[in-house]
Amino acid sequence: MAILKVAKLGHPVLRRIADPLEPGRVKSPEIQRLIDDMFDTMAEYGGVGLAAPQVHCPIQLLVTEDIPDPDLEGGYLAQRSVVINPKITFLTSEEIAYFEGCLSVPDFRGRVPRIQRIRLQGLDRDGNKIDREVEGFPAVVLQHEVDHLNGIIFIDRMKDLSTLSYQQEFERYWASTSGALSD
Ligand code: NI
Repeated sequence: MAILKVAKLGHPVLRRIADPLEPGRVKSPEIQRLIDDMFDTMAEYGGVGLAAPQVHCPIQLLVTEDIPDPDLEGGYLAQRSVVINPKITFLTSEEIAYFEGCLSVPDFRGRVPRIQRIRLQGLDRDGNKIDREVEGFPAVVLQHEVDHLNGIIFIDRMKDLSTLSYQQEFERYWASTSGALSD
C-alpha cells in the first residue's frame, strides 16, 4: 500500500487517451496493487474519485469513493468501486451541475454541467462485467473520471468560466448555492 504522486495540470499524461487494459491483466498483482494504491491516494487527498492517468498510469482504470446519501442516515448513493475500460452512454439530455474540483488542478473549483443519468459498462477489479444505470451525483463523478481517461479536464467542460474560483472564494461566495465534489 502506498500513496502515489498525483500528476498536475500541464503534465502530458493528463492529456492523452489512456490505453485499454487487457481483461487478462485485470487480476495481475501489479494492477491489483495499483488499485489498492489508488484507493489510498484518493483517501489521503480527500477525493471522491481518481483516474489512473492522475497517478501517471495511462490505462483505462478509475476508482470512486463511498458517496453517502445526505437524505438517508447510514445510506449510500454509491459505494466505492473500480471500473476498468469504462463506457458511458447518456440516457437523458437532462443536465445537473456541481462545482467540481480535481486533485490534478489543486485549489480550483468550477461549475460544470453534466448529464443526469447514464449507463455505465466496464469491468470490476475481479474482471466481472459491470452494466448499470447511475444517476445524480455518482453519475457526475463517473463522467469526471471517464473524461480523465480521454485526456479531458473539468475546466474543458465548463460552460461559464466566470464560476472558476479558488477554494477559499468558492467557500465564501458559491458554496451555499451549489454542491461540490473533488476528484
Ligand atoms: Ni479530476
